[in-house]
Amino acid sequence: MTGQTHFIRELAGLAPIIPVLVVDDVADAVPLAQALVRGGLPVLEVTLRTSCALDVIAAMSAVEGARVGAGTLVTPQDVKAAMNAGATFGVSPGAPEALLSACEAAKLPFLPGAATATEAMTLAARGYDILKFFPAEGAGGITTLKGLGGPLPQISFCPTGGVSPENAERYLALPNVVCAGGSWIAPAELVRAGDWAQIEERARAASRLSRG
Ligand code: 3PG
Repeated sequence: MTGQTHFIRELAGLAPIIPVLVVDDVADAVPLAQALVRGGLPVLEVTLRTSCALDVIAAMSAVEGARVGAGTLVTPQDVKAAMNAGATFGVSPGAPEALLSACEAAKLPFLPGAATATEAMTLAARGYDILKFFPAEGAGGITTLKGLGGPLPQISFCPTGGVSPENAERYLALPNVVCAGGSWIAPAELVRAGDWAQIEERARAASRLSRG
């Protein structure tokens, strides 16, 4: 197991769900992270999809108890920018060579994306034995993960994309699922409305989901 994978496994052990965050206003960063941590979800994935995402990572990193990572890493430049902002791990929907090399050179713990047996096997051969299964529902969901678990039981997944309060526990019950990611805990409309109480309640419910 690589150091990076060890770190990702430790993060996965902290909570069953990693909230996927799209934040438009840096002023929301601290109260949002505080609500999620209070609700029992300390591991936060801030997507690099808004102009203030790097400032959001920096602000959230100062929140006690928060473990902040950057999602939607696409290019090597994203890796540098995310780390400079304070991200302690990275997540990507895929795993292009240039991105893998950049994360490895920077020693950024990385959760690369995979959706097929070949992608998963290629990443495992490189030392990544926890992968983001993306897009989870689009790539066959629980049926595909069960299928991959037969021949590849040594590879674990964090399914993301279409995971919901309705299906999360069924994903988490699979032996090859260590945690799951999702945007339902803090959707954009609740963040924009500053409804921290509702977000905290959703986080608490997610933190109590049982794992297999
Ligand atoms: C994302 O990167 O947006 C994640 O896949 C979140 O997917 P979800 O909105 O279906 O939870």
